[in-house]
Amino acid sequence: MRFISHAADLPTPTEFDWIANGLAFGGDYNPEQWPEEVWLEDMALMREAGVTTVSLGVFAWGLLEVADGVFEWDWLDRVMDLLAEHGIGAALATPTAAPPMWLMLAHPEIAPVTAEGVRHAPGGRLGWHPSSAVFRRFALRMVRAIAERYRDHPALRLWHVSNELGNENARSYDDETAEAWRRWLAERYGDIDAVNAAWGTAFWGHRYTGFEQVLPPRFSSTGANPGLLLDFERFTSDALLAHYEAERAVLREVTPTIPITTNFMVQREPGVADYARWAREVDLVANDHYTVGADPRRHAELAFSADRVRGMAGGRPWLLIEHAAAAVNWQRVNRAKTPGELRRNSLAHIARGADGAMFFQWRQSTAGAEQHHSAMLPHAGADSTIFRDVVRLGADLAALAPIRGSVVPTARVAILFDHDSAAALRSGRKPTELLTILDLPHAVHRLLTERGIAVDVLPGDAELDDYAVVVVPTQLLAPAGLAERLAAVVDRGGHVVVSFASGLVDETNRVIPGGYPGAFLALLGIRADEILPLLEGERLAIAPSGTASIWSERVELVDAEAVATIADGPLAGRPAATRRRVGDGTATYLAVRADDETLGALLADVLALAGVEPIADAEPGLEVVRRVGESGRFLFAINHADAPRAVRASGVDLLTGQRHDGTVSVPAGAVVVIEESA
Ligand code: GAL
Repeated sequence: MRFISHAADLPTPTEFDWIANGLAFGGDYNPEQWPEEVWLEDMALMREAGVTTVSLGVFAWGLLEVADGVFEWDWLDRVMDLLAEHGIGAALATPTAAPPMWLMLAHPEIAPVTAEGVRHAPGGRLGWHPSSAVFRRFALRMVRAIAERYRDHPALRLWHVSNELGNENARSYDDETAEAWRRWLAERYGDIDAVNAAWGTAFWGHRYTGFEQVLPPRFSSTGANPGLLLDFERFTSDALLAHYEAERAVLREVTPTIPITTNFMVQREPGVADYARWAREVDLVANDHYTVGADPRRHAELAFSADRVRGMAGGRPWLLIEHAAAAVNWQRVNRAKTPGELRRNSLAHIARGADGAMFFQWRQSTAGAEQHHSAMLPHAGADSTIFRDVVRLGADLAALAPIRGSVVPTARVAILFDHDSAAALRSGRKPTELLTILDLPHAVHRLLTERGIAVDVLPGDAELDDYAVVVVPTQLLAPAGLAERLAAVVDRGGHVVVSFASGLVDETNRVIPGGYPGAFLALLGIRADEILPLLEGERLAIAPSGTASIWSERVELVDAEAVATIADGPLAGRPAATRRRVGDGTATYLAVRADDETLGALLADVLALAGVEPIADAEPGLEVVRRVGESGRFLFAINHADAPRAVRASGVDLLTGQRHDGTVSVPAGAVVVIEESA
């Protein structure tokens, strides 16, 4: 077995013991919200639940540095000592996500400014922008202070840098940021004419004659330049990462053997942070994931996100550092989890490579902005359904200790999902707003995993040598060299599937001319001369069967055959899907958003051509994933259906100790983890 090969160029992580003895289990612990007598009860209940690890002090800066340079450590000393006494490890936060009031009031210039020119007021969190030199100075002083205080503390297992960098402080349009942005551009492009050329500033006569003329994309009467918008996204990601790196440098210096991470937000719509790049800078990839209660396919979204995180981690184990025990508090209706959903969610992340499952937060707050967000220990106390479920999950994770360090083996099918494409799609006006970056990647991943096919979700620069099938779904931006790498897959007898709205622009967000999809014309052997997006609700018929929505194109065959045809409307008779054959390899193009059934059939054809089989013989409704390591082979089967479902497997269920020979029946809503016999 191999790791996904893009791991090859990851830096070797600092040598460290895993943060817990088995799988990590716990959550954000905010004891500062409670009187001290509650802390002992916390310890007892954490022990009862099997908690191994807590994220500590995430928002505690104002309670640690109570005035400029005045530190009060006593309470945190006692908490750290209590944790150590109870055998619980701390993912200790640098508390920079929440600057103290005295700092915000003394230095209002550290706060981000919106595109409309409004400066954020104190009172929220992440109320700083990463280009602020003043903030950096105060933040690093705090980081050094906490690192020096706890460098030798036995509870310290992991540094949790800040919190969700780029969440509330994603973009800032202030003057100090403008200066940093110009420096970033000068470094990237060298001279201003290279910027003019890349962005095509001749349009509307926006030519710059010096870097000092370039502004962040502040509010204006029309949309900004797409090249500028995309570069501003990249700059913002780099500025946030630079903040992380600055904190990391201090932590490394003071505690060279303690691993360092920061919590990513790989879930739903990609944000500003280019996490595939960031992943190379952390010792352990840690992710926060929250499902949306109103989404009936939330378990499929979870599976996609978890596979994406594993792709970023280069196939290595990662840590689910936050999810919710029950409802959140930031959706329109904060739906409770359904019976068994907590367990299915946590174990689905574990199945897909997480070596721990942690929550926001341990004890549910009674005050503050998150008073109605669920926690492991709810308002009702330990005598509650949620806490009983948490205790059971703790026992499950303890039983799963043998899987720690095992990996989900490299799949035979990869989906490319690249940060730059997501950023390019939101940078400037596109042919249709009905096109969303997640729709097709989600559909492809779901249709494959529903068939029991293992899939890796990879960043655009990932190594593709190991894959029999590579799917490129609505990846608008073609990074340099991608067309050649895909052609190499086809040339060695592999199979590539490219969809509409892929390869339309280059790395500067400029359209690649000569017909669509410009980057992949030769690869696919087709050429489209016009995009004809469909109106909301509009559908085209496809022959031999199915319908299409959202997108269509006038496709001409050059060196390919049609495998599906548009059957009505102005494009009747034109290809809806095409295939170019090269020896044993194929390059398939999907020119429309085909309905799921049609898309599923097309993918099934490609799997058949490639000889890719499901990882287990499972009935529909069962999510099956395998992890493999020195300690064995572990088959997870998660039943999302409302009736029992069977999978063929032999071995012992780690969760129940039950032996199975041949067929395992998984009750409705249940999970089994079979340690497979050789
Ligand atoms: C996360 C955040 C936590 C908490 C949680 C609520 O984004 O890191 O601190 O706010 O959301 O869902």
